[in-house]
Amino acid sequence: MYILGIESSCDETSASVSHNRKILSNTTINQVIHSEYGGVVPEIASREHLDLISKVVELALVESGIKIDNIDAIAVTNGPGLKGALMVGVNFAKGLSISKNIPLVGVNHMEGHLFSNFIDLKEIKYPFLCLLVSGGHTQIWNVKEYKNYELLSNTIDDAAGEAFDKGARLLGMSYPGGPEIEKLAKGGDLTKFKFPIAKIKDSVNNFSFSGLKTSLYYLIKNNNQEMINKNKKHIAASYQETILETLLQKMTFIADQTKVYDIFVSGGVIANMRFRDKISELNAKEEYNINCPSMKYCTDNAAMICMAGYEKVINNKFSDITLEVNPNLLMNQ
Ligand code: KG4
Ligand code: ZN
Repeated sequence: MYILGIESSCDETSASVSHNRKILSNTTINQVIHSEYGGVVPEIASREHLDLISKVVELALVESGIKIDNIDAIAVTNGPGLKGALMVGVNFAKGLSISKNIPLVGVNHMEGHLFSNFIDLKEIKYPFLCLLVSGGHTQIWNVKEYKNYELLSNTIDDAAGEAFDKGARLLGMSYPGGPEIEKLAKGGDLTKFKFPIAKIKDSVNNFSFSGLKTSLYYLIKNNNQEMINKNKKHIAASYQETILETLLQKMTFIADQTKVYDIFVSGGVIANMRFRDKISELNAKEEYNINCPSMKYCTDNAAMICMAGYEKVINNKFSDITLEVNPNLLMNQ
């Protein structure tokens, strides 16, 4: 089964070709233009996707060595994400589907992140927990079987990736903030500055990151520039450590509660090496079995869309030409 995957939900234009759960190619162009605006500008993202999409799809096909006529299904992200950006991918996929008579499958971007863990694996063992940590989402799901997902935890305000992005902006760094903070934090003192780990009284399972961002704001506001500049790497290290500790504490708390100890972590934030190291340390204690996708499949990519598309195809869940984009598409829809 050959699948062409297309992803355009935010600021990466990506296409991939897969054979069953094996990825044959994955071409991603990151729209660096947004870094000068301090965040993704939706109109610019749509325009960039329009300029790039046919070239990216062609490159992915060439790299895979598979001709479009041999593709069995086109999987395309139809939500969640930026409406205009999603429309570029979905309309392109529809055009290709009609002109080449290839079945179409609409894929949930977050389900893509979830299935990015299974690239190159022969089988998927249920149940497991999935911690999804991206720029817009911080959630923990109990994945009982295919399409039987229970949301156990969600953020009540900012997502973890957003906490990195907003923190980086406060520290005068560009978008995306995660890799910037990670770079700056190298060699910094993890405990020099105390940031709060939010505890939400009436919903202990949920996350909150807005208080953390506010405390960074006041740290910068209440101290002189010289002190901040001198301590920037320690501030970044302590701030990063607080985000990662918050994620891991909640995740293990929920694993103990549900007694599901097989855990997958996916989404852009798992590209963070300190996060991956902390997970390795936790795994060494042998209480939890925590897995993450390989680095190249952490941030947005179409390989993960091929994977989630493949699950849909083998479960006979095709879309038709009326497929619509849904910026707020939920995982269990
Ligand atoms: O999954 P993703 O590529 O896009 C969304 O679906 O949102 O995640 C992007 C998020 C951004 O907030 C970015 O700052 C964060 O992932 N991120 C990181 C790192 N690389 C990307 N956060 C921490 N450390 C990183 N190395
Ligand atoms: Zn994503």
